[in-house]
Amino acid sequence: MLGRLYINGRWISSSSRKTFDNLNPATGKSIGKYSLGNEIDVNKAVQASSQTLKKWKNIPTPQRGEILLEIARLLKKNKNRLAKLEVIEMGKVYKEAAGDVQEAIDIFEYMAGEGRRLFGITTPSELKNKFCMTIRQPLGVIGLITPWNFPIAIPAWKLAPALVCGNTVIFKPSSDTPQSATELVKILEQAGIPKGVVNLVTGSGQEVGTAIVKHPKIQGISFTGNVDTGKFITANAGLKKVGLELGGKNAIIIMDDANLDLALEGVIWGAFGTTGQRCTATSRVILHNKRKSEFEEMLIKKTSTLKLGSGLKKNTDVGPLINKAAQDKSEMYTKIGKKEKAKLLAGGEKVDLPGFFFKPTVFTNVKPSMRIAQEEIFGPIVSLISVKNLKEAIKVCNDIKYGLSSAIYTTNIKNAFKAIEEIEAGLVYVNSSTIGAEVHLPFGGVKDTGHGREAGPTAVEEFSEIKTIYVDYSNRLQKAQGID
Ligand code: UN1
Repeated sequence: MLGRLYINGRWISSSSRKTFDNLNPATGKSIGKYSLGNEIDVNKAVQASSQTLKKWKNIPTPQRGEILLEIARLLKKNKNRLAKLEVIEMGKVYKEAAGDVQEAIDIFEYMAGEGRRLFGITTPSELKNKFCMTIRQPLGVIGLITPWNFPIAIPAWKLAPALVCGNTVIFKPSSDTPQSATELVKILEQAGIPKGVVNLVTGSGQEVGTAIVKHPKIQGISFTGNVDTGKFITANAGLKKVGLELGGKNAIIIMDDANLDLALEGVIWGAFGTTGQRCTATSRVILHNKRKSEFEEMLIKKTSTLKLGSGLKKNTDVGPLINKAAQDKSEMYTKIGKKEKAKLLAGGEKVDLPGFFFKPTVFTNVKPSMRIAQEEIFGPIVSLISVKNLKEAIKVCNDIKYGLSSAIYTTNIKNAFKAIEEIEAGLVYVNSSTIGAEVHLPFGGVKDTGHGREAGPTAVEEFSEIKTIYVDYSNRLQKAQGID
């Protein structure tokens, strides 16, 4: 497979003429070459996007919504094929890859409906014979920079609201998943997105990403990825509107009154699903000390039954990590954890299989200040921290720089509501894991996780500007603030 850039409705090679390899993480082998875009390609894409902007934003919004519905229909038709490609490209187990495609279908359907809403407000004026309202307008040309862990859903979370709001787009996907991005753009093309409205520029973050972030004609950036890149974007984007989702160090609190079987399922799914490679992954378990040894035992037993292997095999529970660097990072954090004197209960090593596998890993006796309890690992490693009560649990939960997702398992309603109120995170789950957000609710975080909310009704706020309108039909100059 030779992947190209998609600029102004044409599939073309990069002006660099260079390519990069897309590796299958389960084998470490190349599954295709993709165009290594550069600044010249970004400039071309921005030009195409600027030229078509007026035409696109003048299409009645319900009609843009219709195109989104067609995209959703085509995604449904291709769901199985796209999910299989995703398994090969990024090593996810099949059912999770299918979930990724389903999430994209959901957001296109949901945002298609936004075509008939895109609400503004109307409100009374201070004055007689005067009418006040707001309307939403697109930002203009925007840059979408996306990660590899949800290679179809996360681009879809950004593309669907961006398009329904009338923006035109430069889309730069992760270099680990150019195939999923290419397939998605092909579907957009097939659904009738006019030329120039969506432009795909594959290539490095350093070159393509930087060119997008700094481009004077780009009005907005939406980025999902790591904190350092988020900081770089903030420092270099000038006055663009920037939305950032930068990961987490998400915790599950397990209280003494919790249903431990339920909590165990939540921890396994949250910590080892997608091999821990979710911004919302459970990387800390804050455990009431009365249930510590009981839960540790349950967790060790369950972890030892998880089957590692190719995501295409039916009985696989945990797939590989995305690349060697990710595998090395998990290994490095295991060493750090041991050095910090945390106790390794399970896993902690690479697996002797082709591809980038790492065993599901559990540390206990972890202190909240240890690096394994503070830093995002993005691998199948979970740290158990024991506490004496809810107050301490919430303190430990909040004592990190991130604030994306957290959960509490409890059967006590007071504990649940206290946690809902006091946890510093964009998402709080009660008696459910830290993962599994639904597209019709806002998604995003606080503190170093970034700002802005994707998905849900709030997504249109990210991708539109509000214009405030005053219509005075008094036929004389009326002044607000009571001035005669
Ligand atoms: C992410 O990892 O960046 O809630 C997104 C979840 C998924 C989305 C995760 N629906 O875990």
